[in-house]
Amino acid sequence: MTRRKLVAGNWKMNGSLAQLAELDAIAAAARTNPEVDVAICPPFTLVAPAAARGNLSIGAQDVHPNDKGAHTGDVSAAMLKEAGASLVIVGHSERRTDHAETSALVRAKAEAAIGAGLIAIVCIGETEEERLAGRAVQVVEEQLNGSIPPGATAERLVVAYEPVWAIGTGRTPTVQDVAEIHAAIRAKLRGLLGDAADQVRILYGGSVKASNAAELMAVPDVDGALVGGASLTAADFVPIVVAAAKG
Ligand code: PGA
Repeated sequence: MTRRKLVAGNWKMNGSLAQLAELDAIAAAARTNPEVDVAICPPFTLVAPAAARGNLSIGAQDVHPNDKGAHTGDVSAAMLKEAGASLVIVGHSERRTDHAETSALVRAKAEAAIGAGLIAIVCIGETEEERLAGRAVQVVEEQLNGSIPPGATAERLVVAYEPVWAIGTGRTPTVQDVAEIHAAIRAKLRGLLGDAADQVRILYGGSVKASNAAELMAVPDVDGALVGGASLTAADFVPIVVAAAKG
């Protein structure tokens, strides 16, 4: 079973045209670590100029489920594709919280992305309250039930496990906890997608940085990382790419 690791950066609402210069050093690291897939997801306004540099896979952070219409402020999967994106994050916990996105909506977004030929990175993860109540596995299983498009294949679907309490906090679960959840996610995906689940990449996200990337990338069923804060500069991000190449 060989799954190519994927290290994707999520710039969130950060970045500028000037900051796209970081992409050149990140792209250089991607070239010298060809066993890993590397992508950066900047804000919408930077997708086209980032993709135009032509040296790295570029993604977006959200997409509307419809292909066009009266949806002020939204962007369709076809628009992202035309701007040069090859992937899109859907269902990030910040969107589930800030914009009250349900799993049903996340699934519709993932379907739209896949339908347009993009890779959908579907995010799931429990809150701290849910983990303390012993419900982490149950919560991610419910999110998978609701968010994963039926019939999706590994070519176009990636799952990112991001415990909400680990995002931007500097805290991470133990490697044992990550292993437990990723195994549960794999098992659940098998139930939903059959054999195709064995090739689906499951990323870990939440306070991944140079100092913890190696141990996280070595956990079974961790097939890469979704990186927020540490993706904003090549200096922070490249060591994570290198750790994934080794892990
Ligand atoms: P973080 O964010 O790496 O800054 O914790 C991860 C994410 O939200 O994707």
